[in-house]
Amino acid sequence: MKSKNILLKDYKKKISEIKKHNNLYFNHDNPQISDQEYDYLKKEVLNLEKQYSFLKKLSLLDNNVGATPLNKFKKIHHLKPMLSLSNAFDRNDMKDFLKKINNFLNYKNKDIELFSEPKIDGISATLIYENGKLKRGLSRGDGIVGEDILENLKTINEIPKIIKSSEVPKLLEIRCEIYIGKKDFISIKDQFANPRNAAGGSLRQKDPKETAKIPLKYFAYGFGAIEPMIFKTQSEFLEKISNWNFITNPSAKIVKGLEQIEKQHEKINQERSSLNYDIDGIVYKVNDLNLQKRLGNTSNSPRWATAYKFSAEKAITRIKNIVIQVGRTGAITPVAKVEPVTVGGVVVSNATLHNEDEIERKDIRINDKVIIQRAGDVIPQVVSVDKKERDKQSKKFIFPNKCLCGAETKKEYSKSTKKLDAVRRCLKGYDCKFIAKEKLKHIVSKEAFNIDGLGKKVIDQFWELNLIKKPSDIFDLDYGKIKKLDGWGDLSIDNLKKAITKSKSILLDKFIFSIGIRHIGQENAKILASFFSSIKEFSKLFYLKNRKKILNNLAELDGIGETQIQSLNNFFSNNTNNKIINDLISKLIIRNYSLKNTGGKFSNKKLMFTGGFKNMSRSEAKAIAESNGGKVLGSISKKLDFLVVGDSKPTKKKIDQAKELKIKIILENDWNKILDS
Ligand code: IVH
Repeated sequence: MKSKNILLKDYKKKISEIKKHNNLYFNHDNPQISDQEYDYLKKEVLNLEKQYSFLKKLSLLDNNVGATPLNKFKKIHHLKPMLSLSNAFDRNDMKDFLKKINNFLNYKNKDIELFSEPKIDGISATLIYENGKLKRGLSRGDGIVGEDILENLKTINEIPKIIKSSEVPKLLEIRCEIYIGKKDFISIKDQFANPRNAAGGSLRQKDPKETAKIPLKYFAYGFGAIEPMIFKTQSEFLEKISNWNFITNPSAKIVKGLEQIEKQHEKINQERSSLNYDIDGIVYKVNDLNLQKRLGNTSNSPRWATAYKFSAEKAITRIKNIVIQVGRTGAITPVAKVEPVTVGGVVVSNATLHNEDEIERKDIRINDKVIIQRAGDVIPQVVSVDKKERDKQSKKFIFPNKCLCGAETKKEYSKSTKKLDAVRRCLKGYDCKFIAKEKLKHIVSKEAFNIDGLGKKVIDQFWELNLIKKPSDIFDLDYGKIKKLDGWGDLSIDNLKKAITKSKSILLDKFIFSIGIRHIGQENAKILASFFSSIKEFSKLFYLKNRKKILNNLAELDGIGETQIQSLNNFFSNNTNNKIINDLISKLIIRNYSLKNTGGKFSNKKLMFTGGFKNMSRSEAKAIAESNGGKVLGSISKKLDFLVVGDSKPTKKKIDQAKELKIKIILENDWNKILDS
């Protein structure tokens, strides 16, 4: 047997070889060994680690952060998340947007200054400058981790590589949208479906020389991290960076109130076709950066901005057939199979008909000539029927009352609307194979386990081949079988293995969101995760004897209502669900969830609010408490640390209860002082 020293030397030599080739591959785009040779080298290292636990403990390969190829580009954490935008589709949606902002800030219908900018339909990227020098360029990735595409971004001449100004903050992160001009697209249009795809394709070229061949342009629209912060408004920020030679959009404008919002939307919509770049709406942003900060973000998007989309692009086609689809929550959706037609640069052959009532109301029949529309990433939909064109061959669609799995479907009664739901549902959960497959697609998605290389199509394929039938199968894949499939080589299998291994370690809130309990979205999953803290506590829901008590306690949480509690009860009362989720848990390392800001003013404290505040809404007060490490409860109990009492109409009963339980009461004045301190 070789001595420890020799083994260690051999192991370290192989690691340094791997590092050398990673560097050649990632940083110089100049691989000097084939993928197979690279795979072999890595296998040797892994075998050594498997054989000798003292090498496994060193695990130099795993610690070699970012350099092990998962994909073509190095992955880097964003300094600040790159969020997406909420959408508005009409005047009413914009009215709601303004109302929500007013409510959150506790304003009474104030016309807040908004900054309007065209929403460029391109690919987002972020540029990081240190002391005025371009140091990093990242793609959006999943919003938390991006890809290092600096060299490709550098091929865009108009992106400043150095900012010459004494005013530039030490750290300046510029967010921008990369696009291909419509005119430039004409010469390459045979290679790509639309300019957006072309821009994406070009940016993701491994060889920057290839990127340079396609003329990319950009508009800077926002910022990520800035230190020190020197800007007060969005308009001031854009004006300043334009002076520093960044390209900003010339059609940006300050507006106030619904009328001006509509006017600007219409104006730009009319100019749209004459612009040299694709836009799909107008982004309206609260101009004052202080207010933006107060408003903050929900899970995915800022409260201070929205994208007011232009009306969807429409096309005429014919319905060949109507079929039903089963979603992951069991919703049965009718889908029209239409004659393929191009809508806004994309070929559409399926369009949703929403639900049974919608088909009735619009009297949509098989063989009808229909108008379909597609807006952004939203699923194309059938808008209306051209009844003049209807002939004898048109056939009414009889909506089945059974799921594709054969089970009866049901329209549920909604307690909040006091009506029957428009959507029919299959209630079999994982026992329905159609639902089970959709649930798998949700589990691997970006917001959930985020497994690169395991997208919807691969799930379909692996499902058919019996490789994955339930979530835990993802972690027991038969790679020998996969290797025999078309399109799967050593490197892609290795990448998939890595992505799956990485996803095994997951935070409790993501896990709760991933298992797909109806009515438990990302926000609610966070609330639940912060209540349970650990998977051990969460798992108590599996046991009937605990469940009732836990669900009662959940009712105290702000944000969790009867609908969620009912849904949790349904989910965990189902034995198949319990077995499937337990099997999944056994494969994972589920990390405890703790609130982001544990060092805050209310760290680990439980608060409750009653009454209105002068300077802020209840939502803002709640957000402040949470960002300072506190938990907000919805009812009084012994567990509560503070009852915060606003001056305007507090509930006397709550104050009395709190006094009785000796809970500390914070009056509005003191609350403000604590926040200022
Ligand atoms: S502001 C969410 N302004 O739209 C953070 N975004 O759906 C604030 N986009 O990822 C985004 N033009 O890539 C903003 N004028 C503009 C934009 C714009 C295009 C893209 C951007 C972002 C996506 C959000």
